[in-house]
Amino acid sequence: MSQSIAVIKGDGIGPEIMDATLRVLDALECGLHYDFVDAGLAALEKHGTLIPQESLDAIEKYGIALKGPLTTPIGKGFSSINVQLRRHFDLYANVRPAISFPGTRSRYEDIDMITVRENTEGAYLSDGQEMIDDGNTGISVIKVTRHGSERIVRYAFELAKNNGRKKVTAVHKANIIKTSSGLFLDVAREIAKEYPEIEFQEMIVDNACMQLVMNPHQFDVVVTTNLFGDILSDLCAGLVGGLGLAPGANIGEKAAIFEAVHGSAPDIAGQKIANPCALLLAAAQMLDHLGMNEKGDAIRHGIRAVLENRRDMVTPDMGGTGTTDTFAQALVEQVTT
Ligand code: NAI
Ligand code: MG
Repeated sequence: MSQSIAVIKGDGIGPEIMDATLRVLDALECGLHYDFVDAGLAALEKHGTLIPQESLDAIEKYGIALKGPLTTPIGKGFSSINVQLRRHFDLYANVRPAISFPGTRSRYEDIDMITVRENTEGAYLSDGQEMIDDGNTGISVIKVTRHGSERIVRYAFELAKNNGRKKVTAVHKANIIKTSSGLFLDVAREIAKEYPEIEFQEMIVDNACMQLVMNPHQFDVVVTTNLFGDILSDLCAGLVGGLGLAPGANIGEKAAIFEAVHGSAPDIAGQKIANPCALLLAAAQMLDHLGMNEKGDAIRHGIRAVLENRRDMVTPDMGGTGTTDTFAQALVEQVTT
């Protein structure tokens, strides 16, 4: 049976890293049918809108999208397409693994952790209605709900349970932001009781930053609200060698969108030196999500092997002398032999 997915090549380096990624998926014979749809600048030029309805329809129909980075135009009143997509499909869980790979400039080895970030509420309201901005005072609102907290904390515990992970750390600032962060922490404590086999730890966000930098190996699954998750997951990407290796899944009940954490990198677009690893790792998350975990592992192991043994094929940001295409070529050879 063939599974169809929506594919958004994206802007800037998007088409280059997407072509590399699809080459590897094809080599793995994943049986996927790609429905290419537009979003971002490419869509604005062709259709006059950043997200055409037919692109939304395709994502809704298949429930799965693999997405290259999208450029949000600055200063024309455009709001982030990524935030729009997350809201439209209620993609409440942003799942960002941080795993060490060889040959990076990381300070640490053997980091293997996942940040689960609440993706639909917190400080990212952007409706404008809950904010005061009279030019002299800016007040922004943080929204945390019991429902939103329950589902994200439960997601984190289920993820831990289903992947043999031992510990969930809830990161908060309940000592200061008592109403919203306090509610999140209360709910996390309640849900933790349903999972006695998994260790539960709570940590205040500033301490969590210090602990992540000093002793990252103590973490397994981290669950937190939107803004803290945004910041902590980039910190974790830094721990394992930077944005070139950071994938992210945006998961809801009815749809899931898999993407690299980095943006469209206009400074290197067209030069064929973009590192495709983050999007490849996002594709591996997508394969896991579709029940093809062995193929997901093949991508992860393959990347590890290429980074270790084929430095000539690796892109310059990882210290290699290769291109996007040579990396894809090396990975295809790796996963097919
Ligand atoms: P960026 O992540 O595109 O680039 C930051 C730096 O990292 C640049 O020097 C870039 O060359 C480098 N870089 C990023 N990805 C790389 C890769 N795969 N290989 C090698 N080097 C890489 O962030 P920036 O410049 O702040 O944003 C550019 C555009 O991307 C903006 O329009 C922004 O809105 C958009 N963006 C989109 C995201 C998404 O679609 N998920 C996420 C972040 C930004
Ligand atoms: Mg971010």
